[in-house]
Amino acid sequence: MSAVLNPQSAATGITIKPLHPLFVAEVTGVDLTVPVTRADFRAIWEAFNQYEVLVVRDQNFEDDTQIAFSRNFGPLETMEAHPANNFKPGHIAVMTNLDGQGNLLPLDDPGMQHRLRNEHWHTDSSFKPVAALCSMLSGRIVPPVGGNTDFASGRAAYAAFPDARKPALEDLIAVHRVAKPEDEDDPAYNEEQKKRLTVTHPLIRINPVNGRRNFYAGAHAQAINGMPHEAARTLIAEITEFCTQPRFVYSHPWRLHDLVIWDNRSVLHRATTFDKTQYRRKMHRTTVAGAAQDSFFANLPQPHAA
Ligand code: OGA
Ligand code: MN
Repeated sequence: MSAVLNPQSAATGITIKPLHPLFVAEVTGVDLTVPVTRADFRAIWEAFNQYEVLVVRDQNFEDDTQIAFSRNFGPLETMEAHPANNFKPGHIAVMTNLDGQGNLLPLDDPGMQHRLRNEHWHTDSSFKPVAALCSMLSGRIVPPVGGNTDFASGRAAYAAFPDARKPALEDLIAVHRVAKPEDEDDPAYNEEQKKRLTVTHPLIRINPVNGRRNFYAGAHAQAINGMPHEAARTLIAEITEFCTQPRFVYSHPWRLHDLVIWDNRSVLHRATTFDKTQYRRKMHRTTVAGAAQDSFFANLPQPHAA
């Protein structure tokens, strides 16, 4: 009798290799530009929840194959018309210093100015009522030097934070806004968008798969419900500084066709600078929408020990 294969237990050729003592792993042995098997995606999903950031080299994506792979994680966010997608709404955000013809943009171009904000520690879409699950960035043109993306683990930072202070933080709710006060005149957002994009999220989030807690703040976090403004800004700054200490940071040096997937629920990230007058950089990003209930986990009994 011939054996019947169970697709859920099919072997996977995937290897997961940590790239940092606390988070981040490299995934090898899989081509993500073609449909992945259930077993392969399961291995990726488990590694994503465990390591927060996954690096996959040599993935020669087109936009449609990147979108197809991203959809394995869930429905994608649609970016509104915006400098980050060159005012073409859709599932791809283009982070680049090039114009549509591939020429270097002048440093004072509004889109370039807007993308400078990526150089502040942030987590994607925390200014949306339902924040993102993950983003993935595909390196389509990479500079020979500089232009790394840095990642900071809010989970490793929370684990290392003084336990005595944790109870006072457990139920705090932060207010996130799309723009920082000094960016209020950013033409990328109109008044209606700015008002709509004022939302709240718990300062401590819990990964629903493994119960691990993490800090959740970043550049969009502006205030804390029920806390005087100055005290809240000081606390948010302190937590951001704590999370972004070198021991919790991995800096990704880009190679052509790298794909980096990060968990927006628990890591902060930022672009680092490079010589934008000389080198070209073009990254295509997809972002997977989060689940509303994720944001309420801080208010529910803890499913597992953190
Ligand atoms: C992003 C982002 C950083 C970078 O795409 O969300 O923050 O290094 N990018 O381009
Ligand atoms: Mn970002």
